[in-house]
Amino acid sequence: MRIILLGAPGAGKGTQAQFLMAKFGIPQISTGDMLRAAIKAGTELGKQAKQVMDAGQLVSDELIIGLVKERIAQDDCKSGFLLDGFPRTIPQADAMKENGVSVDSVIEFDVADEVIVDRMAGRRVHSGSGRVYHLVYNPPKVAGKDDETGEDLSIRPDDEESTVRKRLGIYHEQTKPLVDYYQAEATAGNCKYITMDGTQAVEAVSAQLAEQLA
Ligand code: AP5
Ligand code: ZN
Repeated sequence: MRIILLGAPGAGKGTQAQFLMAKFGIPQISTGDMLRAAIKAGTELGKQAKQVMDAGQLVSDELIIGLVKERIAQDDCKSGFLLDGFPRTIPQADAMKENGVSVDSVIEFDVADEVIVDRMAGRRVHSGSGRVYHLVYNPPKVAGKDDETGEDLSIRPDDEESTVRKRLGIYHEQTKPLVDYYQAEATAGNCKYITMDGTQAVEAVSAQLAEQLA
């Protein structure tokens, strides 16, 4: 199964990716996590991406398309994958099509901007795995620690409110057009398009996804 998770920063893509990965046994391809891993490892890619990400802007299409192409070609993606944070521009979606990469389902998470600003203020992440928590809405079992490894959780550098607002602006400008793009693909019979009310509780969203994808 090949799935695209579409939605604003903080809409819950990473959170539901954890659920869907476990349910369908497919890998999560999070371009944000891949870039953060490159920054941590100090690679050339990481050096190029860091400033852009910290400023809440998008990394170049060329760089991201190359990264995803390479990742999708790996063996564990043969039975499907979950794209989280890609595509996020029309050229990225076109590149997928041109490379003959079809998808089964596109899931859009609909959440208002003000809800997102509140969520980001309480987000904590485990940088090693990309697992995501929230101080109130999705707390870890032990405060400040990852459930699986017990390692420390951290705050993402781009979660500062002014950066979040900048990321939301870029989402509306450059990524929102993908809603029409994939709705048209669905109308043409090329994929299924599912819109989720992403403001419901985490478990409620997961339960609905399971139903829709059954
Ligand atoms: P990326 O890491 O992809 O960030 P994003 O798209 O901005 O999305 P987030 O990870 O912030 O949010 P999410 O939807 O995963 O929400 P989450 O589940 O964590 O990208 C980061 C940067 O990398 C970009 O700005 C860009 O620079 C670069 N980049 C990445 N991909 C790129 C691309 N394709 N092209 C160009 N540049 C690219 O949830 C958020 C919080 O809410 C958490 O605390 C969570 O616990 C909580 N929460 C989740 N669901 C619920 C719920 N239902 N109720 C209450 N709280 C909830
Ligand atoms: Zn995410």
